[in-house]
Amino acid sequence: MELRHDRILILDFGSQYTQLIARRVREGRVYSQILPCTASLAEIKAYRPKGIILSGGPSSVYDRHAPTVPKKLFDLGVPFLSICYGMQLVTHVLEGEVAKATHREYGRAELLIDDTSDLFKNIRARSRTVWMSHGDRIERMPKGFRVIAHTDNSPVAAMKSVVRGRSIYCLQFHPEVAHTVCGAQILNNFVHDICGCRPTWTMSSYVETAVADIRARVGKGKVICALSGGVDSSVAAALTQRAIGSQLACIFVDNGLLRKDERVKVQKSFAQLDLDLHILDRSAQFLGALKGVINPERKRKIIGRLFIRNFEKEANRLGKADYLVQGTLYPDVIESVSFKGPSATIKTHHNVGGLPKKMRLRLVEPLRELFKDEVRVLGKELGLPDDIVWRHPFPGPGLAIRVLGEVTPQRCSMLREADAIVEQEIRQSGLYAETWQAFAVLLPIRTVGVMGDQRTYEHVAAIRAVTSLDGMTADWAKLPHEVLGKISNRIINEVRGVNRVVYDISSKPPSTIEWE
Ligand code: XMP
Repeated sequence: MELRHDRILILDFGSQYTQLIARRVREGRVYSQILPCTASLAEIKAYRPKGIILSGGPSSVYDRHAPTVPKKLFDLGVPFLSICYGMQLVTHVLEGEVAKATHREYGRAELLIDDTSDLFKNIRARSRTVWMSHGDRIERMPKGFRVIAHTDNSPVAAMKSVVRGRSIYCLQFHPEVAHTVCGAQILNNFVHDICGCRPTWTMSSYVETAVADIRARVGKGKVICALSGGVDSSVAAALTQRAIGSQLACIFVDNGLLRKDERVKVQKSFAQLDLDLHILDRSAQFLGALKGVINPERKRKIIGRLFIRNFEKEANRLGKADYLVQGTLYPDVIESVSFKGPSATIKTHHNVGGLPKKMRLRLVEPLRELFKDEVRVLGKELGLPDDIVWRHPFPGPGLAIRVLGEVTPQRCSMLREADAIVEQEIRQSGLYAETWQAFAVLLPIRTVGVMGDQRTYEHVAAIRAVTSLDGMTADWAKLPHEVLGKISNRIINEVRGVNRVVYDISSKPPSTIEWE
């Protein structure tokens, strides 16, 4: 699909900002893809990029195993933009000199632009604050390079090659982060003007090509999809439905661990899309299997297994299926090819274990190239309601990992009510969109309180609200005290069985977002 769009290739040297570079390029409506810096020249050429960005990274070019690139890379005949470590690498590989740092330069700096002809075109004087984060610096530029910007601390904050036929731009700072005020303009200048990419990457163009691709892949095959009501599976289902209509059947398992009114909401949203939706009420079965179980990983395993069994049974009942739709996103794809290797398993997560292999179904992953924010725009484009498109993530095991200790119908319903109040109040305060997740957790302890003149001995609800970009790291949300106060009052007054509310102020790491 991407061959129909001009492309920028990003070589990843391990920077925490690499995905951000890709997103910024896409915000300029140009398709971008990330490859590990270990990719071969042949692989790089096969992408037919119109420009290449070398990311930053934690290494120093003097480290023993510092990642590098062959000199021949710069003869590909496309423009390069090298950021931070990328800049030092260009210098090192093209025989300039990188000086080992005596101290790191980290944080804001004022950029003084010496050349406004191309990369720094249309940058207003007031917006020249940039974000530095580097150790080593350029001592001597490679032959044929010229300084195009400096700061008080960095005589070569940016440089470019003036050798004919070799278009290389280097930045010591990070244009991709929001602190670099002129960053978007710099990236757009590179991508649009210097590389000549056409801004064709829009979600309506994506729908068109994705629909054609799904049709080509699936033919007359029968496709099934496990719908969870979350953004990813909902958008993947809606897109596949647009492509192949009645060849798609979706299965939604109500495991009794859903949020308040969730099943009805999903039913309503998809009724509008004319989707062949099969809703299975299996709450009694799931809650029965969880009876007496308190170990979080066991809860996950039980839920995962039961889910597969129900899904398989229903799929068989519907007739033999050939394909399975999954809402895999681009960050999952990058994670599995990263040169840093896959991250450690902290919790048994996502991709309800073993589903595709066991069923021998071929996968349809229509969101494989998209970031979460793009998936949301796509969902809107496909006519999904805001309530689904802007939903906070919700874990597969649902309330079972938020009811700490034993999961019983009563404790689930207590949590469901408390959780609904958290969601209502966060929405009411206008903070829902900027919060990654906000929910209630029911603790397995009881505390003493007083209500009216009566002593009470009841449950504690914890509120968890976090901000995050991708769920990998997170900070506790600094919710206003009034909002927290209102949530607490309402829960204690309206939810029978809860007499105390506490707020979780832990970040991830070292804590995780979910309590179990
Ligand atoms: P943690 O708790 O590991 O969660 O910080 C990170 C993100 O993943 C979600 N999560 C899960 N999602 N199955 C899922 O599908 C799970 O078992 C699971 N556990 C956590 C969590 O809600 C957060 O968004």
